[in-house]
Amino acid sequence: MTIPHSSDLPAVKHHVSVLPDGLHFASNGVDSVLESGLRAGVELPSSCRNGTCRECMCRLVSGKVRYRIDWPGLSADEKDEGWFLPCVAIAQSDLLIEQPFAQAR
Ligand code: FES
Repeated sequence: MTIPHSSDLPAVKHHVSVLPDGLHFASNGVDSVLESGLRAGVELPSSCRNGTCRECMCRLVSGKVRYRIDWPGLSADEKDEGWFLPCVAIAQSDLLIEQPFAQAR
């Protein structure tokens, strides 16, 4: 199996905007929201990066994500209330998220 070089990855598919500071970055539809932010110089809080610790948990104000793991560490109620885990979530549309601790590097 050949691992694709980063330049072989799909181009920008979706845009992610971060409230309240208006930071934004692109997602290629392959990497997680956390990874996409890091690549663009936008740091979101994180720790485990595998969907268990909930350090990255923040609000998905609008847009759609899919998870790369079957059981991300969120309850059904939390998902219904708009919480999501950027470390294991992949953008499926443009996203508006709320993360007051996001920082531009
Ligand atoms: S960094 Fe641990 S759940 Fe996202």
